[in-house]
Amino acid sequence: MVAFTARAHTNIALLKYWGKVDQQLIIPTTTSISLTLDEFYTETTVEFDPALPNDQITLDQQPLKEKDRHKISIFLNLIRTQAQINTFARVQSVNHVPTAAGLASSASAFAALAGAGSAAAGLNLSQADLSRLARQGSGSASRSIFGGFVQWDRGTDHQTSVAHPLQENVDWPIQLLTVIVSDQPKKINSRGGMQNAMQNSPFYQNWVERSNGLVKPMQTAINQHDLATLGTIAEQNALEMHAQNMVANPPFFYLTDISWQIINLVQDLRQSGLQVYATMDAGPNVKIISHPDDTPTIKSALFKILPEISIQVATPGPGLTVWQNGA
Ligand code: PMV
Repeated sequence: MVAFTARAHTNIALLKYWGKVDQQLIIPTTTSISLTLDEFYTETTVEFDPALPNDQITLDQQPLKEKDRHKISIFLNLIRTQAQINTFARVQSVNHVPTAAGLASSASAFAALAGAGSAAAGLNLSQADLSRLARQGSGSASRSIFGGFVQWDRGTDHQTSVAHPLQENVDWPIQLLTVIVSDQPKKINSRGGMQNAMQNSPFYQNWVERSNGLVKPMQTAINQHDLATLGTIAEQNALEMHAQNMVANPPFFYLTDISWQIINLVQDLRQSGLQVYATMDAGPNVKIISHPDDTPTIKSALFKILPEISIQVATPGPGLTVWQNGA
């Protein structure tokens, strides 16, 4: 059969997904809003081959560990069932994202796999159906089907829990500076972390209500190109998500001393008049939402307190692209 390749970019949630009402289908407790990023992406090639005795999967040219291979095979089963085939697949994935370090590589990974896998299986899915498929691999992957600002409606079932673009072409100045505190895989993955917060934080329901209440104001901020409001809401939502983890019983922490140093610096810079805001996911890295003109000032302030730090500039990026190999 024919091989297809897909490229999907990561996204950073400005309003977070942190907990699910349905573990199997991945139906979240909150509607989330993200920005797809140009600089970080995954490229995946899939070919279903009747000669294969099982799925053969590599990530960055290395065979996957059994646990991860199993996860991908289960996802491929969704595609096989839909396409009514039972052939195994050869999957080659190359990640242009530091894996599992809170940079949401699972978002780009499952979006790319959904795109290449469904095309290679002969399915011709709509973008909404690709979003529904990708969601079942990793919730945040539902948003990486689209470029720019994207909203994943929490919905109530497989059909209604789907992402859609809010603003695909972002033609106004906004960027994300990713400050890489660690590129090591995190100790508690997002799946375990959100489950833990949901079950063990006394304020979880409050977070859900507050977060869902921020959807409209965030949409307005995006529509009005209002960086200050967008950043303020995003930072508040991220801190509230991390607060759930900190007050869970037992508590757990993704943010390290260095993360907090960066968050404090962001507050100082803001007090000095800059529009800079922090957001953090399931890892210690801090992403700074800011205006591109302020990059030199922010970078030099960061290097002053953390000379060894690595910083990556990311700008709004496109949605999923899929092509046939050799075509
Ligand atoms: O899609 P997952 O299982 O990798 O979870 C993503 C969770 C966060 O990155 C913390 C928030 C989000 O909405 O992307």
